Amino acid sequence: MEHLIATPIGEIVAPYTRSVNHSILTCSPYFVELAVNEICRSHPSIIVLDTLSPGCLLIQAPVSFDQLTRPFREHLPIYLHHLFPIQKTVSLDISSVKQAIEKLMSQHPTATIQARILPDMVNGADAVAMPPFNEVVQFFQRWEGPSPAVTGKILSVAIARQHTKWRVFMGVSWANQNISPYAGGVRPYKVQMPNRAGYKLLEALTDFGIRLREGDHALDLGAAPGAWTMVLRQRGLKVTAVAPTEMYPNLLDDPMVMYRGMTAENYLPQAEGPFDVITNDMRMDAQDSSRLMVQYAKLLRPDGLAIVTLKLRQPNMRRLMDHSFRILRQAYKIMQVRQLVSNRQEVCLFLRPKIE
Ligand SMILES: C[S@@+](CC[C@H](N)C(=O)[O-])C[C@H]1O[C@@H](n2cnc3c(N)ncnc32)[C@H](O)[C@@H]1O
Repeated sequence: MEHLIATPIGEIVAPYTRSVNHSILTCSPYFVELAVNEICRSHPSIIVLDTLSPGCLLIQAPVSFDQLTRPFREHLPIYLHHLFPIQKTVSLDISSVKQAIEKLMSQHPTATIQARILPDMVNGADAVAMPPFNEVVQFFQRWEGPSPAVTGKILSVAIARQHTKWRVFMGVSWANQNISPYAGGVRPYKVQMPNRAGYKLLEALTDFGIRLREGDHALDLGAAPGAWTMVLRQRGLKVTAVAPTEMYPNLLDDPMVMYRGMTAENYLPQAEGPFDVITNDMRMDAQDSSRLMVQYAKLLRPDGLAIVTLKLRQPNMRRLMDHSFRILRQAYKIMQVRQLVSNRQEVCLFLRPKIE
């Protein structure tokens, strides 16, 4: 495989032999500290140079881009969503941008362009401003938005404000070096979900490599209004949906959906089962949710699986996670943890029952 190494900002040389690279790291704005810790565990000398946008950091690493992302190629990281190398930075000037793109494309003619326009933090993470609308923004709009999966090389572009100046950051890498082959890690979905929660389950199934079996029986805790139940039904599972709030009416008409309009605590003593799958997206304290999951474990078949979102709160989300994981380990093996792109202040877990 060709060894693409990022160069110091402003230069274009590829393949490049220097061993310092600048990259743009993307993670959830809620998990920046944990994402930085995660990457620093593999590369302790990483320096965060700037926050370009909520959850988008400019970093410097004393290793090549390939070395930087290698640890995450076999095992998806928990918090990192996307990384790309910076090989060229230009101002928001259309002729410099076109010249830089032409040069990079002449060196990497098969590269696919992925562009992102990063909102700028003007007064803290919540107050964001878009770049001045000009020819450069217009030029990149055709490549902006959720991109299809790329398997070859990607020319990643981010328009972002660094201090007082808007700049265009560009770099070429192999899709498998970027943690995700999608711009910023945002996967496009062909299927329309009735609410945002639905995308969490789709993303979890893909990231965890879970293939649900048609005909299996799922218990969906915190099911309402019902996007997860819908996904499970679309995969051919029968679903027992538990929530004290209302479900979408079309799900109530489905004979393969058994709706139990009550809390998971109240359903537990009367629960049917065993279940092949337990999903839990309950709006509940992470430790309480974990304790309930432990009680529900006896209803999960030994070859079953569970997918759980844990809702976290400040301060010290890491400690809350550690406590919750400790509780869950009483009954489950934690197969994988991922802070999904479609998660907000939460993480998603893939569990298997612990077999004594
Ligand atoms: C984020 S919503 C779930 C969205 C759902 N996964 C979907 O796809 O539409 C959180 C749900 O947790 C439910 N919930 C809150 N406390 C609960 C409890 N103690 N037992 C069961 N469900 C609970 C709420 O009623 C709500 O339906």
